[in-house]
Amino acid sequence: MPECYARSCKLSARPGQLTISCAVPVSAAWPLQMVETDGGIRAVDWVWCDAASGRAGAMVPLPADTQSVRGRGIEVIIAANWKMNPPLADAAALAVAYAADSFDGVTRILFPPAPYLVQMGVRLDGTDMLVGGQDCHHNASGAHTGDVAAGMLADCGARVVLLGHSERRADHGEDDALVATKAAAALSAGLDVMICVGETLDQREAGSAEAVVTAQLEGSVPAGIDTSRLMLAYEPVWAIGTGKVAGVEEIAAMHAAIQQWLAKRDLASVPILYGGSVKPGNADAIFGVPDVGGALVGGASLKAEDFNGICSAGARAAAARS
Ligand code: PGA
Repeated sequence: MPECYARSCKLSARPGQLTISCAVPVSAAWPLQMVETDGGIRAVDWVWCDAASGRAGAMVPLPADTQSVRGRGIEVIIAANWKMNPPLADAAALAVAYAADSFDGVTRILFPPAPYLVQMGVRLDGTDMLVGGQDCHHNASGAHTGDVAAGMLADCGARVVLLGHSERRADHGEDDALVATKAAAALSAGLDVMICVGETLDQREAGSAEAVVTAQLEGSVPAGIDTSRLMLAYEPVWAIGTGKVAGVEEIAAMHAAIQQWLAKRDLASVPILYGGSVKPGNADAIFGVPDVGGALVGGASLKAEDFNGICSAGARAAAARS
């Protein structure tokens, strides 16, 4: 592992980034640093430091770590979807709080707002928690104002991208075909994909929930996808941010239906996360459902205590399954 020193700081390299451990607490970010590594003097793009903990990090272009999220032999995946929250100061504190904990048998993923990817990634360096994008464009580059390409997410340390979330389907009119093209773009950029599916309340009440979700899978999951790069999240739209959680029987039935669909396409090992008002108080019951491979957590991920409570339930589930 290359090591180098800059001012009073020791730097060590990991795939995709350098970490600086400062001998003294630091209180300001430096806009650009030159650091010496065993590869020579290099420019550091961006340096972060946290006065309270004295931890600091820097991003430099190093070869990307291409190991898939699931190539780590994990049992339970718990993802924090911050959506368009919180302000940077709160985000920084939350990531530092996440970094303080780890949970046996659990891999955590943070989907922060895209502008915070680097900053959150360096705070989570050395932990089991990966960062990912909340969306990507289906093209690799071009005249697409306001959009972010999958490769750009990867350059910022993302390892995975969330696609087809119901809020993107509703707010941006994203359909299954678009989700599939985005997934293909993400895979080409070396990212894993987490594709979201889920029915509305009207669809559930009309008795068509399984048909809707199966059609979303058909349309959104690219044909021939490498199983190790795919994760699914079943999120009933009516349970997202509403405090209404699907009953364990409803979850079990839908996860079994998704599992059947996966098995027919030789994708049987793909994990299926559940999402929609997951909280510390209901996580044990949800993780107790067969075929639930983890959770996609929105609101509860904005409080470290709540997110940690869900991760603890994930660790209990992983222990029970092993
Ligand atoms: P929620 O959101 O946990 O706030 O319901 C979940 C999600 O939208 O991913």
